[in-house]
Amino acid sequence: MNSERLTVNLAGLRLKNPTMLASGILGYSAETFEKIAKCGAAAVVTKSVGLKPRRGYANPTVVQVSCGLINAVGLPNPGIDEFTSEIREAKATLKVPLIVSVYGFSAEEYAVVSEKAVAAGADAVEINVSCPHVKETGAEIGQNPKILYSVVKKVKSAVSKPVFVKLSPNVTEIAEIAEAAADAGADAVTAINTVKAIAIDAETTKPILGNRKGGLSGPAIKPIALRCVYDIHERVKVPIIGCGGVRDWRDTVEFLLAGATAVQIGTAIALKGTKIFRNIAKGVDAYLKRKGFRSVNEVVGLAHRN
Ligand SMILES: Cc1cc2nc3c(=O)[nH]c(=O)nc-3n(C[C@H](O)[C@H](O)[C@H](O)COP(=O)(O)O)c2cc1C
Repeated sequence: MNSERLTVNLAGLRLKNPTMLASGILGYSAETFEKIAKCGAAAVVTKSVGLKPRRGYANPTVVQVSCGLINAVGLPNPGIDEFTSEIREAKATLKVPLIVSVYGFSAEEYAVVSEKAVAAGADAVEINVSCPHVKETGAEIGQNPKILYSVVKKVKSAVSKPVFVKLSPNVTEIAEIAEAAADAGADAVTAINTVKAIAIDAETTKPILGNRKGGLSGPAIKPIALRCVYDIHERVKVPIIGCGGVRDWRDTVEFLLAGATAVQIGTAIALKGTKIFRNIAKGVDAYLKRKGFRSVNEVVGLAHRN
């Protein structure tokens, strides 16, 4: 692999290739992040953490459907004060950027949690304004450009590290929401979080998930995520992190062509294992070489120009 060809600059963070671990898939532990980095991920994003500990929803919280998963885990987390020791431990050994995903129930909460995460060593924060299944946070903030603007502004004034904003596809015009985030100073936007969904069991005649409804991830949402990245690239200049259904190098290249600088991978890890990161990096490198591109940057947004 040619490291120079694969390296990307994501809002000031140097990634050795364009693959990242998506939030929520492998939790919070320093040991897991280390393992993922060793498997080739160029950055890791933690599961979303809030101000106070939270239990999450009753089981079942995840169900497999054709072409993906539907989850409604309900943002279970230990709270930022408990989590800071894990951030410190991870930073002591981790050789790739550590991005802490943050949620809150107000702009102040987002800012306080972000501040604590950065003080403990986070290289960036990703603010989750797009969780589809917890009321009064997540998507309820990310669906309203004015509220989103104030949250991002507050977080930006609280921390000196890059702020990424993770957007919801469950809106009419995602580019408008991305623009509000960029206007408020977001350093990058991540698109997308899960798509609102439900699974129903014909035998029991009931919704399957404890929370009834949840969010769909995996290959089923890839074309939606790709369209979101494409739309955002037409409207804003900040870097975009593509997320949703990435399984292999070809999916990754498609996201780059649509305008993403890097991709996050979640559900595919459950289906293909952690070797996916290195396989994707190798595949993207071979593609760049075969097509005569000297760097990932030459491909970013190319579909808009062709
Ligand atoms: C079980 C599960 C838990 C998740 N938890 C979070 C979370 O805590 N915060 C967040 O921003 N996204 C969370 N997500 C969304 C993923 O980060 C990602 O946006 C989504 O799954 C689409 O990517 P994928 O198709 O590669 O999984 C979660 C997804 C799954 C499947």
